[in-house]
Parts: sequence; structure tokens; C-alpha cells
Amino acid sequence: MGRIIIFTGKGGVGKTSVAAAHAVASANEGKNTLLVSADMAHNLGDIFQTEVGGHTKKVRENLSLLELDPDMLMKEEFPNVNKAITALMGSSGGVSVGNVGDNFIIPGFENLFSLLKIRDIYESGVYDRIIVDCAPTGETLSLLKLPELLTWYMEKFFPVGKVMVRVLSPVSKVKYKVTLPTNQAMNEIEEMHGQMVLLQELLKDPDICSVRLVCVPEKMVVEETKRNYMYLNLYDYQVDRVFVNRILPDDTGSDFMNRWRDIQKKYMNEIESVFTEVPITKIPWYSEEVRGEDAIGLLADRVLNIPGLFDISVRNEKETYEAIDGGYCLTVKLPGADPEEVKVAVHDMDIDIKVNNYNRCIPLPNTLRGASVTDLEFEENKLRISLKLKDAAEETGKDVSQP
Ligand SMILES: Nc1ncnc2c1ncn2[C@@H]1O[C@H](COP(=O)(O)OP(=O)(O)O)[C@@H](O)[C@H]1O
Ligand SMILES: [Mg+2]
Repeated sequence: MGRIIIFTGKGGVGKTSVAAAHAVASANEGKNTLLVSADMAHNLGDIFQTEVGGHTKKVRENLSLLELDPDMLMKEEFPNVNKAITALMGSSGGVSVGNVGDNFIIPGFENLFSLLKIRDIYESGVYDRIIVDCAPTGETLSLLKLPELLTWYMEKFFPVGKVMVRVLSPVSKVKYKVTLPTNQAMNEIEEMHGQMVLLQELLKDPDICSVRLVCVPEKMVVEETKRNYMYLNLYDYQVDRVFVNRILPDDTGSDFMNRWRDIQKKYMNEIESVFTEVPITKIPWYSEEVRGEDAIGLLADRVLNIPGLFDISVRNEKETYEAIDGGYCLTVKLPGADPEEVKVAVHDMDIDIKVNNYNRCIPLPNTLRGASVTDLEFEENKLRISLKLKDAAEETGKDVSQP
């Protein structure tokens, strides 16, 4: 079984360096490894001091590089998915739809093609390990939530099967203010739906894929890393290691830098108190840039010499429903969330968990459709949502979810 590791973090903290060091360490173990850049500001070529570009390039035994170009992928490799997305967008008119909470037209949706390509490469079985160097936090979160968001959207507005489309057409137009696409476009949407489901299964497979965070011990970066961790959990991604880069030595030899070392210590303590469930790896601040294969090789040897580095060391529990009096309690992992910024609402078929500008719609099991939220409780790293079942009388009278 292959392995995918996704690296993300704030801009400039060392994501590409750490991802590249993983790729080299992996190749050194004799595993055929692909280092992929999904950051539009590609710099694998710069780090390995070679031209890379949009096609896989083997740089040495067991190590290949690829800089993904979503525009090219969209046109050359996934023209049908592109047509499906156009059909979806055309039919929603680009307006905010129902309770998605976001405008359907998502800036950067074209990066989805990078994920689809990564899945294709994974499925080809050529590589034992795929190391993905991602864009800074916000963009990566937008990217990682896309497969689920699109799947949700398609299931909600474009029920699978042409017969259903005909039956639902007039209803959906009135209820959701969207026009359903033609039958031909519908095929493409169905096809894309299948791809999105498989993509999600892969990215959330606890034996295959994990996300590793890279940060530095500085206030703004630590704040962003904590939030990133929370949002990744909200979207049910498995974070299995945190790298803290650019750590100053105990004695820097200068008062000025010793003061910075003390500041770093303070934030290091904070990181250690937040990421209690995730292994933390520290990386020293070197006196030179990490450029060229030799420098990356040194980073790999000195820092990534960790037994089981490529194993997934953390297992997220899946969301659970537990029976309580009059309903169910849904538990979602949401480490470090501020109760003030979390909003939960049930919209007949889904539960919508919103933390600041990030929201996730989780389809509810049939028994819970139309349930109401009666209580929110924060417990360690978890959010517990109490849901009361809709009573039978209400159910027959008010259920408008079916035509
Ligand atoms: N531990 C380190 N010591 C010294 N320089 C580093 C270290 N980590 C990264 N760098 C340098 O910092 C710059 C940014 O690193 P990079 O890996 O490109 O970050 P990102 O991908 O997060 O933007 C690069 O010039 C890199 O060589
Ligand atoms: Mg980078």
C-alpha cells in the first residue's frame, strides 16, 4: 500500500525544505518516491537545482519530482471534469446556494485538478510514497475541503440518475434556485461525483494519507498553526507530526540572539502544550539556506533520522454518535476551538459546523434528519453536539425535504 504525506504551514517556515528532506530520506530507504509541488509558487527546481516543470522528472534512483500545473491538468488530463464543473457552476449561477455558507464559486477550485492528478499517480502504483509540498495554510485548507464540499453539493442538488433529475427538476428550481444541467452534463457530474468520492476516501484513509505541519516558534506562526490544526480536524484530516523549524541553539553567542532564543522557548512550550497528541520534531536553524541536494540530504540525515518516520503515528477517532436521552450526541474532534466562534445548526439533512469562515456540512443519518441542536459542550479536544430527534407529529406535518 502506498503512502501520501501532505505538508502545509505558513509561508516561508520551511515546508518545501522539510518535504524535500522527507523525499530524500524516503528514496534513501530504497522506496520509489515522488515529491510533488502543489504550490503554484513552485520551487522544487530551485531546491534541487534542476528544471522540473509539469511532467515527472527522475532526479536519481528512487526520487522523482513534479511541479503540478492545474491549468494544464484541467485542459489536458481532466477535460470532462472541467466540463462538469462548468455545468455545475452554470446551473448555480455562481450565487451562494442554500446553506453551503460559501459561494459555490470557490477561488482556487482549479487546484482540485492537482488533487485528482495526485490520486491518479497514487493509483498507478508506480510510487511507494508521494510527498506533497503544499501552498501556505489558507490555500491548502481551501483545497483540502474541496472534495467533500463538491461531493456534498452534488449530492444535494444533483441527485444521481437521470430519472431523478427529471422528477426533481421543477422542485429544485423553486426550492434551491438552481437549474439542473442537461442530461449530458449530468453524466459528467455523475462521473465527477464518483471521482470526488474516491478522492476523499483516499485523502482520509487513515492507513495512507496524513498531513504534517511545519512551523517556527514565533507568535503569529504558532497561532496560525494551532488554527490550521483545528480546521484540518474539522475537515477530518489526520495530522500526524508537527515540525518546528529554525530553532536557535542554547547559546547563540550573542545577547541579541539569546533574547530571541528565549522568545522561541516560550513559543516552543506553547506548541508542546497544544500538540500533546502529535509527535513534535525540532529542526535547528542552520547558518546557511537549505538549498541543493546535499543540504537537503543533510537535513534528512540529521533531523529525519526517526524510526518509523513514514508510519502514521496518530489515529483520529472517527466522528461518533452516541445515544442520549431523546436523541444522539455527535462528537467531533476540534482541538483548540474557542466556543465563542463555533456555530452549529441543522439544516434538514445535514449538520453544519461553522468555525469562523470555515464550515463543514456533515450529512446526518436518516434517523437524525431534521433534528435540533439542544446543547454544545467542549471537552478537551472535542466538541459534543446534542441532537434531539424531531418528534413524529412534526415530522409528518413539516417535512419539506422530499418533493
Ligand atoms: N532550518 C533552516 N535553517 C536555515 N535556513 C532554512 C531552514 N529551513 C528553511 N530555510 C530556508 O528558508 C527559506 C524558506 O524555506 P522553504 O522551505 O522554501 O519554506 P516554505 O516552503 O515554507 O515557503 C529557504 O531559503 C530555506 O533554504
Ligand atoms: Mg515552499
